[in-house]
Amino acid sequence: MKNSFHLVALLVAVQFTLMSAFLIPVGKKLEFVSKVSSIQVSHVIHQPKSVVNQSFDLEINITRPIKELKLQFSYYLTDEGDAIQTTIIKRTVDVCFYIRNPKSDRVVKQMYDYLLERTNIKMQCPIAPGNYYMRNIRPADVPLPGFLPESHLMFETLYRSEVRRVTMVEFRYFAKMVRYFENIF
Ligand SMILES: *[C@@H]1O[C@H](CO)[C@@H](O)[C@H](O)[C@H]1NC(C)=O
Ligand SMILES: *[C@@H]1O[C@H](CO)[C@@H](O)[C@H](O)[C@H]1NC(C)=O
Repeated sequence: MKNSFHLVALLVAVQFTLMSAFLIPVGKKLEFVSKVSSIQVSHVIHQPKSVVNQSFDLEINITRPIKELKLQFSYYLTDEGDAIQTTIIKRTVDVCFYIRNPKSDRVVKQMYDYLLERTNIKMQCPIAPGNYYMRNIRPADVPLPGFLPESHLMFETLYRSEVRRVTMVEFRYFAKMVRYFENIF
């Protein structure tokens, strides 16, 4: 009796793991704004109505070298009206330290590797003035932490200068996590 209970529990766990692997974010809204005159940003969303093929491009023109940069990324649970309910993760990354030590943070490395294939930003500090892009970011493909719930949420990245004590760029992506079954079998 006890063993069969364990077996059922195991099967449920395995099934849950398989299913959660196919939770994907479907974007509702994207905000990408610069708070400083030395950085210009814009974004374009492609196929906003498509669950799997939705993608976006970001453009970042920088006119002054960036010597230090802190990236603070957070996942929040929101309600359907996009109001923040709970913080799931909040992490601060020193970008220049991270570029020299890309293995220092496993969660960040997954996203970093994904971005590396889609950007022309030279990963070195100081970050040189230039016209940069990140292209073909597909939320359905972005490696996400495995524990995100089936819910409305918001992914936020703030780019801060600690020395100048300002937030330079704000990125917010509002999405609903949905189960996507089509490709399992
Ligand atoms: C960046 O610069 C390029 C070339 O001048 C221009 O075409 C583009 O619109 C600029 N993008 C932004 C976000 O300012
Ligand atoms: C998504 O794009 C692929 C090719 O890029 C296409 O084969 C597929 O039909 C598209 N799916 C949807 C739902 O738009």
